[in-house]
Amino acid sequence: MFSYTTRQSLILRVNQDALTVTPRPSDTLLYTLRQELGLTGAKPGCENGDCGACTVIFDNLPLKSCLMLTAEAVGHEITTVEGFHHTALQDAFMDHWAFQCGYCTSGFLTTAHALLTRHPDADRQTMVEWLRSNLCRCTGYQEIGDAVWSVLQAGQT
Ligand code: FES
Ligand code: FES
Repeated sequence: MFSYTTRQSLILRVNQDALTVTPRPSDTLLYTLRQELGLTGAKPGCENGDCGACTVIFDNLPLKSCLMLTAEAVGHEITTVEGFHHTALQDAFMDHWAFQCGYCTSGFLTTAHALLTRHPDADRQTMVEWLRSNLCRCTGYQEIGDAVWSVLQAGQT
């Protein structure tokens, strides 16, 4: 049991590495990823679960990391956008100009990656429903959808 003032060493599995962190009990997973581990791909947007900018992959499902305490992530597999290396999805975002300021991009990439992993045969409506969990302030939804759809159609991640 944690007190609210005591830091404790924990091991997180992030991008296939076991990493030691010493969060405060109240630190969110988003905070620890960014401030302790320097993984700044997941972005603080609303920090209350609405925008999806903080999305990471958590045991193959997209998770808004602003809503989870770091301690709750122990024993789970976390993938951040830094864990992607030249995927077809990243190439598709480039090819379709699927970002403007880019603030939402890592969240869309992680959500879409989870979709491609879990539902590689998803139809367009399913894709749209999954992407609804993420907001783009630059309103580039058409391009983002086209990018993800192109990878679904090509059958590759
Ligand atoms: S920052 Fe987590 S959902 Fe907006
Ligand atoms: S590209 Fe700017 S918020 Fe989406």
